[in-house]
Amino acid sequence: MKLEINHIVFKNICKIVTNDNLNAYVIGGYVRDLILKRKSNDIDIVVVGSGINLAKKVAMSINKNISVNIFKNFGTAMFKYNNDEIEFVGARKESYQRNSRKPFVESGSLVDDQNRRDFTINALAISLNKDDFGQLIDPFNGMEDLKNGIIKTPLNPITTFSDDPLRMLRAIRFASQLDFTVSDETLEAIGKIKNRISIISKERISSELNKIILSKKPSKGFILLEKTGLLKLIFPLLDKMKGVNIINGKAHKDNFIHTIQVLDNISQKTDNLWLRWAAVLHDIGKPATKKFQNNNWTFYNHSFVGAKMVPDIFRFLKLPLNSKMKYVQKLVLLHLRPIGLADSEINDSAIRRLLFETGDDIDDLMTLCEADITSKNDKKVKYFLENFTTVRTKLKEIEQKDTIRNFQPPISGDFIIKTFNIKPSREIGIIKDSITNAILDGKINNNFDEAFSYMIIEAKKLGLKQI
Ligand code: CTP
Repeated sequence: MKLEINHIVFKNICKIVTNDNLNAYVIGGYVRDLILKRKSNDIDIVVVGSGINLAKKVAMSINKNISVNIFKNFGTAMFKYNNDEIEFVGARKESYQRNSRKPFVESGSLVDDQNRRDFTINALAISLNKDDFGQLIDPFNGMEDLKNGIIKTPLNPITTFSDDPLRMLRAIRFASQLDFTVSDETLEAIGKIKNRISIISKERISSELNKIILSKKPSKGFILLEKTGLLKLIFPLLDKMKGVNIINGKAHKDNFIHTIQVLDNISQKTDNLWLRWAAVLHDIGKPATKKFQNNNWTFYNHSFVGAKMVPDIFRFLKLPLNSKMKYVQKLVLLHLRPIGLADSEINDSAIRRLLFETGDDIDDLMTLCEADITSKNDKKVKYFLENFTTVRTKLKEIEQKDTIRNFQPPISGDFIIKTFNIKPSREIGIIKDSITNAILDGKINNNFDEAFSYMIIEAKKLGLKQI
């Protein structure tokens, strides 16, 4: 089978290898994605010979100003052209460990190289040689597996996974990302040697986890992670959410199943990785707070406990400990607040406080809350969704009226110092907080004049006089 490939890089490679009497192929993810009609900017070229030399020549043939990054230890080289990253490597006999620090040497044929790749669908190559330019080289029926949506290894899965245990996660990630099925034999092998995942760095694991979370229906990946036993090893706190306890005939819901449903729900609304992470973690405090009391299951304060767990989870998974973490933490902490508002009679003050605490993340919080409704009772779902619509309307009204979202108190600390001629002190904080609270509670409007009058009254209570 011949494929249409007309990238300038491929044409130039063809000219150069013909001239130098070499053989080169485009291989791996790019070919898979080309056939699946998915966009891909990572182009891997394998040459039976030196990848570095070929990269230099090809770059030169396109534009002599292109700079080529050379990784001598790995025998690879890459350059960027337009939006594409083109990586060149000599065909290898050993496993294709692009992320390993282990320098790698032994060269081989194209077949050797294909043998040592992770999945049949990732071992497809297209010839860039003059005689059969565009010809698909598919020794493991990868094309068939692509058509049938099957993830399986080219060799015995135990061998393929032993070469690089990260591939166990990649199998599940591809299944989730492409909505494919992992073959039984491959899945069984993962179950057998899952413990080998311990040699893989947390960064590489999280990168796969993020890709699962970003897939269209992430529950697919999480169910496979759980089924194979990998979840317990890579994300034990999520694994702990599994299961249902029953006392006196009363059961609580399975929090793992609920979580992945919420994740699927939110994935229909947003591609924001961190909002999706907030869905993953929104109930993470539940196992620690679970109690059976007064003949009922309770999870008191689970949002607070969960939010406190977020930094440790991010540290454990080597996710960024920056504003993204804070954002996830905030959403976990506040995820029950709008539900509370939906349940009771909605009052302005509670809405103002919520706006104040969430700031610009209010819309994301509402998206999370709506995704959190996983009841099978249609009436209940309808009731909550309608209430959320009311909360959203009310949020808009209050925001327009009071501009609380990015609230800055109309009176600054400096102004208080000058007005009462005092030194920086605790009193300033007390006065500022009372003004803020008065605005949020609707006692005064959010403007300077009303805040000023209120400040004078509050300061008086503290024995301060205006000079
Ligand atoms: N590969 C492998 N084993 C790995 C990683 C990669 O065999 N652990 C091979 C596969 O043939 C893969 C190719 O290297 O197709 C390129 O790897 P990479 O860029 O990491 O993945 P892609 O398959 O391109 O997919 P994605 O870009 O979505 O990660």
